[in-house]
Amino acid sequence: RHPEPCCEGLVLVCRTPSFRAANPQTLFLLKNGSAAGIPRLVERFSKFSPSPLSMKQFIDFGSANACEKTSFVFLRQELPVRLANIMKEIDFLPDKLLGTPSLKLLTSWYSQSLMELAEFLEKNPSDRNVLTGFTQTLVNIRNRHNNVVPTMAQGVVEYKDAFGVDPVTNQNVQYFLDRFYMSRISTRMLMNQHTLIFDGSVNPAHPKHIGSIDPTCDVVEVVKDAYETSKMLCEQYYLTSPDMEIREVNAKSPGQPLHIVYVPSHLYHMLFELFKNAMRATVETHETSPTLPPIKVHVALGAEDLTIKMSDKGGGVPLRKIERLFSYMYSTAPSPVHEDNSRNAPLAGFGYGLPISRLYAKYFQGDLQLYSMEGYGTAAVIYLKALSSESVERLPVFNKSALRHYQTSIEADDWCMPSRDPKKLGKFERTQ
Ligand SMILES: Nc1ncnc2c1ncn2[C@@H]1O[C@H](COP(=O)(O)OP(=O)(O)OP(=O)(O)O)[C@@H](O)[C@H]1O
Ligand SMILES: [Mg+2]
Repeated sequence: RHPEPCCEGLVLVCRTPSFRAANPQTLFLLKNGSAAGIPRLVERFSKFSPSPLSMKQFIDFGSANACEKTSFVFLRQELPVRLANIMKEIDFLPDKLLGTPSLKLLTSWYSQSLMELAEFLEKNPSDRNVLTGFTQTLVNIRNRHNNVVPTMAQGVVEYKDAFGVDPVTNQNVQYFLDRFYMSRISTRMLMNQHTLIFDGSVNPAHPKHIGSIDPTCDVVEVVKDAYETSKMLCEQYYLTSPDMEIREVNAKSPGQPLHIVYVPSHLYHMLFELFKNAMRATVETHETSPTLPPIKVHVALGAEDLTIKMSDKGGGVPLRKIERLFSYMYSTAPSPVHEDNSRNAPLAGFGYGLPISRLYAKYFQGDLQLYSMEGYGTAAVIYLKALSSESVERLPVFNKSALRHYQTSIEADDWCMPSRDPKKLGKFERTQ
């Protein structure tokens, strides 16, 4: 019911080497285009800051007075601006990462797409053929970029295998990838909205949806959907699965269903990832016990926040490791194919479940946090904005502050390192 708009094939594709097949074709396209003009396009468009849209603006673009021409004129500028801003940051990645075959392929996709979009700048918005051509270009770009996440992850694996990980590289790659994947979520959102709204049809299953947005998204429904799918996977691999208990509190309109204006596929993505993690931890921690403790989900709607808390009794994670669970570099599986790990494959893949889910939450000014009690269990909390007027895109912009992040050098820590051998504080007394 909720096709993932962004990370499709994240696990499957990276496990299949054939995803590289697109490489020669894209490089061929680039050679045929004016590849030399790309740096100029990047310079030109990265001078602009992206324009974040609010949920209200997304809805207006798709309501009765929706105008394809207006959307076209906006996107033919905004999409190149978002692509160029992030392309500037790609340039600052370590050379050894940029030099991997995966990153070369990936940057060629970005260049090609930027070039294709720029071709529309001089075209007439009143020409029907131009509008149709633009929609087709968006579809092509979306397809071209389908495998960006596994390809980037593969690049990180290649880099890690060759050069290892150090805290500074990890920090830079983390900073970059959070921005890079956020930029991708946002450009896909824009492209999805335009193609869904202006393809002239109504989604028969969801006639009230505006593109991918549900103006009355029933949060508990999405929780149930994500639980059911995860439960199915869990039973397939462990032959058992924990139950779920839901509790809801609507402080705004007591007793009423919890509705927000949101993208159900984004919410589903986050919940599905959290359920997979919670189920895996629960089953593996209680392998020898006859019953499994249920996963408890609490949903609360207040004046400002819609909060979803998912608690499991899956043994928890020590505090020291929590930050690492969100790290792209530390948690990336060392190799895409793990024969001996196949039992866990569908419930645990690349290690991107948490970091990407947090980006979806942050995209509309929310957040995702983990609170864990080692030896007991974990609570994962998704925070979303309750009001659509506060759900505004959170977008990276390339500027001097961003640049500074890529130029940090290795400096001494400004907190003392605990020494391995405790100082013999009694020594002084004894020598007296
Ligand atoms: N509820 C939880 N209880 C215990 N450990 C957890 C929980 N959630 C996450 N973890 C730990 O955090 C790690 C990272 O989770 P994450 O979802 O990001 O990646 P993954 O599950 O390994 O792979 P995938 O990309 O398929 O999600 C997990 O491998 C697991 O060790
Ligand atoms: Mg996971």
